[in-house]
Amino acid sequence: MSSNQTLKTTLAGFHLGSCLMNASGVHCTDENELSGLLNANVGALVTKSCTLESRTGNPLPRYANIPNGSINSMGLPNHGLAYYLEFIEKSQYLHNKIAILSIAGLSKKENLELLKNADKADSIKLIELNLSCPNIPGKPQTGYDFEASEKLLAEAFEISTKSVGVKLPPYFDMVHFESMATVLKKFPVAYVCCVNSIGNALWINVENESVVIKPKNGFGGLGGMYIKPTALANVRMFYSLLDGVDIVGCGGIQNGQDAFEHILCGASMVQIGTTLWQEGPACFDRISNELSTIMQQKGYATIDEFKGKLKSMN
Ligand SMILES: Cc1cc2nc3c(=O)[nH]c(=O)nc-3n(C[C@H](O)[C@H](O)[C@H](O)COP(=O)(O)O)c2cc1C
Repeated sequence: MSSNQTLKTTLAGFHLGSCLMNASGVHCTDENELSGLLNANVGALVTKSCTLESRTGNPLPRYANIPNGSINSMGLPNHGLAYYLEFIEKSQYLHNKIAILSIAGLSKKENLELLKNADKADSIKLIELNLSCPNIPGKPQTGYDFEASEKLLAEAFEISTKSVGVKLPPYFDMVHFESMATVLKKFPVAYVCCVNSIGNALWINVENESVVIKPKNGFGGLGGMYIKPTALANVRMFYSLLDGVDIVGCGGIQNGQDAFEHILCGASMVQIGTTLWQEGPACFDRISNELSTIMQQKGYATIDEFKGKLKSMN
């Protein structure tokens, strides 16, 4: 990295050494993986989305690499809240990085209970509330139900004294962008992370004429290159609609140029999922170098010099 270029950023008021981090669910489920991130070239890390109790998740195979992407239906396998609280407590003084707790209760009640318990832990500084997880059977995921989202956030911000950000599913309709922004404006959200996987995609292996993951007859969340244009649109829309709220970009980041594009759309931080799964934590060194090179070529010394400055055509 050139000495003139810096990837430093701020997220929810925290000063971080790099704008790169993992995406929840990737390389962050057990202590081994999380420790790998503590030693990686990231400014922050986020845990696997957790529930109150541990879960084994869906039957295998539940993740598949596809060309330039991934499809998964993991079923939220995680070690339970206490495990992640303990990890964050243990590691808080070890490295100059913030560890974000991701939570994904399967009901409003469980989400509130998770927040209540996390509130008691001094080491927890920042929480990512995953609004893009399957919830009540027969109902859409919380992020696609604006009324349910508002009810959950109203109680969440009553209960929690922590900084709480939200992870959103991708939206595809202008009315939906505006509806979610209207909800979010009512609360002091610490940041907004766009986007979770594009839900319920189907990938086919033509040779054996079969689906590639076992759960849900092969339907799963799509990540990687396919979702970058959607992710960029979501980052851009929420950056424009939520004046002053930090945006975390996630979706389809494979290289420095992808990270640059997310920041140009308004992201203060970028999360990497599929590429981290496929390449391991070394991807952060490579992507940092690529991003720094692009910044150097364009004459930017800091990410703030181009963050959000995507040009329109006259
Ligand atoms: C194996 C796997 C597990 C995931 N688990 C979670 C999770 O627990 N919580 C969450 O918010 N997102 C989860 N995601 C979604 C990612 O955090 C990310 O939003 C998505 O993969 C898009 O980023 P990408 O294109 O870089 O993969 C998971 C993704 C993958 C591939």
